[in-house]
Amino acid sequence: MKKIVIFASGSGSNAENIIRYFEGDGQIRVVALFCNRPGAFVLERASRLGVPGIVFGRDEWTSAGGIPARLRELGVDLIVLAGFLWRVPEMILEEYPGRVINIHPALLPSHGGKGMYGERVHEAVIRAGDRKSGITIHHVNERYDEGAIIFQASCDVSPGETPGSLAAKVHALEHAHFPAVIRGLLERDMNMNRTPY
Ligand code: GRF
Repeated sequence: MKKIVIFASGSGSNAENIIRYFEGDGQIRVVALFCNRPGAFVLERASRLGVPGIVFGRDEWTSAGGIPARLRELGVDLIVLAGFLWRVPEMILEEYPGRVINIHPALLPSHGGKGMYGERVHEAVIRAGDRKSGITIHHVNERYDEGAIIFQASCDVSPGETPGSLAAKVHALEHAHFPAVIRGLLERDMNMNRTPY
């Protein structure tokens, strides 16, 4: 059994979509949802789907006895960031090489970096006059949105596009592709019996 944990801090539509995708899967399961914002809607989604939600603060994030210890107890194979904004401590990146991934709502390397999240990303894409946007699933390293790209999918930016309408297109891409990319990484791992990437 391969174990996924999801880190999210907002609405959590991606988290819910990933949890549902692997429900009933004999080989891959979402075992916990970690959230750094008490009261975030993602916690309600996880609880409705029977996935334990773990709320944590800065201190637990950065101390060895905190989140790193919880992850070790769970025996985690893949850490998925889905709408989570804190930088991942080196301690965790070192313990899970190639096993921490993130989704970004634009085509990196454009429109990424610290502070580029949510509506701001879509506003920047429209302001730049880009004809395409999309999603990027990438490995996480110590710099925001700069890890190696695993997968991208794109959509048109139509004339008269608003940040809201673009966000809806991008969410649709995220929901269509993110779970399958996760499956691909873990299956490659199982078949080759080594760490993904
Ligand atoms: C997504 O657009 C994702 O790309 C970004 O944060 C958003 C989270 O959306 N990292 P949701 O909370 O999963 O609906």
